[in-house]
Amino acid sequence: MITATGLELRAGSRVLLSGTTLRVQPGDRIGLVGRNGAGKTTTLRVLAGEGEPYAGDLEHGGEVGYLPQDPREGDLSVAAKDRVLSARGLDALLRDMEKAQTAMSELVDDAERDKAVRRYGRLEERFAALGGYAAESEAARICANLGLEERILTQPLSTLSGGQRRRVELARILFAASEAGAGGKSGTILLLDEPTNHLDADSISWLRGFLKSHDGGLVVISHDVDLLADVVNKVWFLDATRAELDTYNMTWQRYLDARATDEKRRRRERANAEKKAAALQKQAAKLGAKATKAVAAKNMARRAEQMLANLDEERQADKVAKIKFPAPAPCGRTPLTAEGLSKSYGSLEIFTGVDLAIDRGSKVVVLGLNGAGKTTLLRLLGGMETPDTGSVVPGHGLRIGYYAQEHETLDHDATVWENTRHLAPDTGAQELRNLLGSFLFSGEQLDQPAGTLSGGEKTRLALAALVSSAANVLLLDEPTNNLDPASRAQVLDALHSYTGAVVLVTHDPGAVEALQPERVILLPDGTEDHWSDDYLELVQLA
Ligand SMILES: Nc1ncnc2c1ncn2[C@@H]1O[C@H](COP(=O)(O)OP(=O)(O)OP(=O)(O)O)[C@@H](O)[C@H]1O
Ligand SMILES: [Mg+2]
Repeated sequence: MITATGLELRAGSRVLLSGTTLRVQPGDRIGLVGRNGAGKTTTLRVLAGEGEPYAGDLEHGGEVGYLPQDPREGDLSVAAKDRVLSARGLDALLRDMEKAQTAMSELVDDAERDKAVRRYGRLEERFAALGGYAAESEAARICANLGLEERILTQPLSTLSGGQRRRVELARILFAASEAGAGGKSGTILLLDEPTNHLDADSISWLRGFLKSHDGGLVVISHDVDLLADVVNKVWFLDATRAELDTYNMTWQRYLDARATDEKRRRRERANAEKKAAALQKQAAKLGAKATKAVAAKNMARRAEQMLANLDEERQADKVAKIKFPAPAPCGRTPLTAEGLSKSYGSLEIFTGVDLAIDRGSKVVVLGLNGAGKTTLLRLLGGMETPDTGSVVPGHGLRIGYYAQEHETLDHDATVWENTRHLAPDTGAQELRNLLGSFLFSGEQLDQPAGTLSGGEKTRLALAALVSSAANVLLLDEPTNNLDPASRAQVLDALHSYTGAVVLVTHDPGAVEALQPERVILLPDGTEDHWSDDYLELVQLA
């Protein structure tokens, strides 16, 4: 059980939450929702004991498995499989067993070999006693279900993509939490921040099943409404406009209805306040005409002003980005061509002999299963990585805008302003300010270091930086991850009316529908085809 009392959370000078009591109990499956930047990640970090609240007390009983929104740093030299097994301390034992095994086969001295054999026997006994064999296959099963193939598990974390590393972390946490099945203790509380990012449709549906049957307590932050509808039995709604957290002890569908009713009531209250303010203003104007009532009139007018100002503040905080991608810089007919691209990592061939030509203003979707090399292809096109064979040929006037899934294009130490400024040196300050404003960055937030932004805010900034440079070929890798539904709709809208060329990698069918692609590239073969809606099914599978 986790209990937080008198909780106050702040971000800079902004109050995110105050005087709140939160409790996570066995059997709870809580969906934590709210707009980008509302403070969901901050709340979960504090519940996990990894962040200090501004004020309040936290009580922890039992194990907690926390999946942060960003991939964790840490020792990246360990193999992925060991990272997962380390959740139950089995990794060290396995390593020792392997050592003893090598010794057994290599030693020539009989006495020493016998020693190694005995040592192996002892280790093996312990491993078996700890349920090691069952655990190992269980870990392998969880990994497979999360789309982590055998070959990936033997690689050190440092060679994995951010998305793969996050899946390893998720596997590790779920492996630890599933100990109950092996006859051990149960009751791990799972705190998961956007667990479905980087997962394909099969993995997501498996994860849903896992979470649905987890009864040790769960708080999940997700923009995936299907997952919420399927899994949660309580909802915490974090409202940035009021710095409050509303608890709804009900399923997702009931919550949606209750929220709608609450919103309606608030709108009604707002309308009433507006009416009252208007009446006050009218009265004040009337009274103001009489010299003897001037003071009373002034007070009335001030009260009306205050009422209206409060209302404005609320609306401001609830604003939705009106995102518009600026016009791309002029370029030749085919700004980007690639010939015979091949790429391997070690002995693993990702793809070979891929040709493609991106015409001005054309829209292309890249499809392929997990590991087929979609991100790799974008990185080659963007010049972030060099191909083993073949080449990327820039056309006349090419300006590439590369959006990385992991926001690696952002300079985390630089501010929001600096991150866009250097990409658009020719843009006037006011123009840039307007552009950032349309991505909902203004005031103090322009000076905030990008590394401290929330996940959705980072996505917004990376997209703003990308288009501020008047790029004419956008390479987009999962651009809708982390966005709340309202912001996602805005980004898709902007994408829809963008006149430059786009090469898109996504699991989000809505993004493909918004793009209305003409062509599709199928990896790993690099086959090109005209887009048809039959491919839409593949998008989710990919
Ligand atoms: N050092 C800081 N200075 C100012 N603001 C900060 C700082 N650190 C975080 N913030 C702000 O705190 C707010 C809450 O961030 P948090 O990551 O908790 O949001 P979130 O609800 O998880 O959003 P998302 O849905 O985008 O992941 C954000 O607006 C973020 O920019
Ligand atoms: Mg977050």
